Amino acid sequence: ATDYRTITVERTGDRTALLTLNRPKALNALNLQVMDEVVSATEALDRDPDIGCIVLTGSTKAFAAGADIKEMQPQGYMDMYLTDWFTAWDRLGNLRTPTVAAVSGYALGGGCELAMLCDILLASDTAVFGQPEIKLGVIPGIGGSQRLTRAVGKAKAMDLCLTGRTMDAVEAERAGLVSRVVAVDDLLPEALAVAETVAGMSKPVAMMAKEAVNRAFETTLAEGVRFERRLFHAVFATADQKEGMSAFADKRAPDFTHR
Ligand code: CAA
Repeated sequence: ATDYRTITVERTGDRTALLTLNRPKALNALNLQVMDEVVSATEALDRDPDIGCIVLTGSTKAFAAGADIKEMQPQGYMDMYLTDWFTAWDRLGNLRTPTVAAVSGYALGGGCELAMLCDILLASDTAVFGQPEIKLGVIPGIGGSQRLTRAVGKAKAMDLCLTGRTMDAVEAERAGLVSRVVAVDDLLPEALAVAETVAGMSKPVAMMAKEAVNRAFETTLAEGVRFERRLFHAVFATADQKEGMSAFADKRAPDFTHR
C-alpha cells in the first residue's frame, strides 16, 4: 500500500483505515490515477476482515475540487465512451464495508460526488459543496444529479446543478446532505471516532444495515421493508446477535467476533 502516488492509506485504530487524497497542487482534483488508486485501495480494505470502517478525507482546503478538468478538456465522445470514463467510481459505492467522508473545504463536482458515494458524510464548518459542472459546459458524471437529488430533493438539486452555485456546511446539513457539521479542527478526530464506533459493531451486521439503508434508494417501500425483514431474520444466524443481546442482559459491553 506504499506505492500509491495520489493518496495515502493508513491504519488508524483497531479496525479502521484512513484514506487521504494527496494531490495538494491540484486541490485533489480527481484524475484517472486518483480514481484507480482510491478504488483499488478501498477494495483491498473492503476485503480485509480486520477493517470495519474506512474514512476518506482530503486536505483542509479541499476535499476534492472536482474531476480533473485539464485531463478531460481534450477528450472526445469516443474517448469517454470507450474508456467508460468515471465508471470505476461506481465500485466505491458498492463496497460492503461502511465508509465515512470527512469533508473540509471544497467538495465540488466530482468531489461532492465522491463524498456522496460514502455512507456517512461529515463536514467541517468550512466545507463547500456544489455541482458546478454546468459552468464548464458539462454536467455531473459520477452520479451527482442522482445522489444529490435523492439527498436534498429536487429544489436544491436543480438550483445547484443549473446555477452552479455552492452550498456552505450549514445549508448542506439543513438540506440533509451531511449528517454532522463540526469545527474544522475537530473534523478528522470526529470522523475517526465515528469510524471507531462503526468498526466496533459486528461487521456482518453493519454490512447488512448498510445494505438495507442503500436498498431504500433502489426499490419501493414494500419491497424495501421486505428486504429489511429478510436481513433482520438473517442476523439471527450470527454469533454477534447472541453476544450483543446477552451482553445487554448481563449489563456488560459486547465482545463481537464479527461472525
Ligand atoms: N481540475 C484540475 N485542476 C484543478 C481543479 C480541477 N477540478 N481544481 C483546481 N485545480 C487546480 C488549478 O488549476 C490550480 O492549478 P495551477 O496552480 O496549476 O494553476 C490549482 O488546482 C489551485 O487551484 P486555484 O488556483 O484555482 O485555487 P483557488 O483557491 O483560487 O480556487 C477553486 C479554488 C474555487 C476550487 C477553483 O480551483 C475551482 O473553481 N476549481 C474547479 C471547480 C470545478 O469546476 N469542479 C468541477 C470539475 S468538473 C467535474 O467534477 C465533472 C464531474 O461531474 C465528475
